[in-house]
Amino acid sequence: MRRKITIVGAGATGATAAHILAARDYADVVLTDIKEGLPQGKALDLNQMGPILGFEPQISGTNSYEETAGSDVVVITAGLPRSPGMSRDDLVTTNEKIVGSVTEQIVAQSPDCIIVILSNPLDAMCHVSKSVSGFPKERVFGQAGVLDTARFRTFIAWETGASVRDVQALVLGGHGDQMVPVVSATTVGGVPLRKLVADDRIAAMVERTAKGGGELVELLGTSAWYAPGAAAAQMVDSIMLDEHRVLPCTAYLEGEYGIDGLYMGVPVKLGAKGIEEIVELELTDDERQALNTSADAVREVVGVLGSGG
Ligand SMILES: NC(=O)c1ccc[n+]([C@@H]2O[C@H](COP(=O)([O-])OP(=O)(O)OC[C@H]3O[C@@H](n4cnc5c(N)ncnc54)[C@H](O)[C@@H]3O)[C@@H](O)[C@H]2O)c1
Repeated sequence: MRRKITIVGAGATGATAAHILAARDYADVVLTDIKEGLPQGKALDLNQMGPILGFEPQISGTNSYEETAGSDVVVITAGLPRSPGMSRDDLVTTNEKIVGSVTEQIVAQSPDCIIVILSNPLDAMCHVSKSVSGFPKERVFGQAGVLDTARFRTFIAWETGASVRDVQALVLGGHGDQMVPVVSATTVGGVPLRKLVADDRIAAMVERTAKGGGELVELLGTSAWYAPGAAAAQMVDSIMLDEHRVLPCTAYLEGEYGIDGLYMGVPVKLGAKGIEEIVELELTDDERQALNTSADAVREVVGVLGSGG
């Protein structure tokens, strides 16, 4: 029997993650959503891609949780996305209820699963899912950094004319406008970014990355889904295939980076057991200060949660 990945929320982001993971063909994928017909329809459509792209049609769609039983990894994308003018934090009350109820139902069916959160405001929703599930911190974390880093890498590749595959970068902190692209850890083909690009151009790329989600919301009228779905799939790969990739994820910190009791984006090693290690980088004073500012912004949103996080 193949292993199982569940994706909650068969909307734009959830279906994109399902598409990418189905095409990998190492696990069955269950899509669940409250909208009747939507997960079933998307699953049917995705299955019919199998003969063309060459993967087994093992995707199911449901409005309940029975079929999710025994999942190894559950990706939660349920909730409202942003509309123009809205910050991620504006979604807090609505999505808190959704993520709380989804977590309860997931845990009842898959008590040993690993939960990957995408629903926004991401850092706060990780607190909700951890508290409702009662899972250890190694098994509840969020996707933001892979996406934010991919945005930064894209801008750097365009600026330098290098292949995006040779751009190494890292974005830390909360998944908000205060996120921290770590320029000191950014290289192109091993050469530090600061040696290749003028400071003002770097500052412009840092700014565009931090506001990258908003730029897409303005263009699309809702939040992005292709890169977010792919980012979630990359995290799921690292867990399901025990790859031990070091990826920036939203992890629960207990003293790392001088931050305690808060979900924040940091590099972690991801394997079959979830988070295996939080990697601590040496940051410049400016970067450390920016990380603390980002932590303050996350604390403010977490403070709004009904349970206080
Ligand atoms: N962390 C990230 O990097 C990132 C990136 C993109 C989107 N997001 C967030 O992910 C969420 C989904 O975004 P989207 O663009 O896919 O939105 P979408 O509207 O396309 O899809 C959301 C889906 O969730 C479903 N849903 C709502 N309540 C539910 C419930 N209780 N149980 C099951 N399903 C439920 C809806 O029916 C809908 O189909 C939003 O909160 C968005 O802000 C996060």
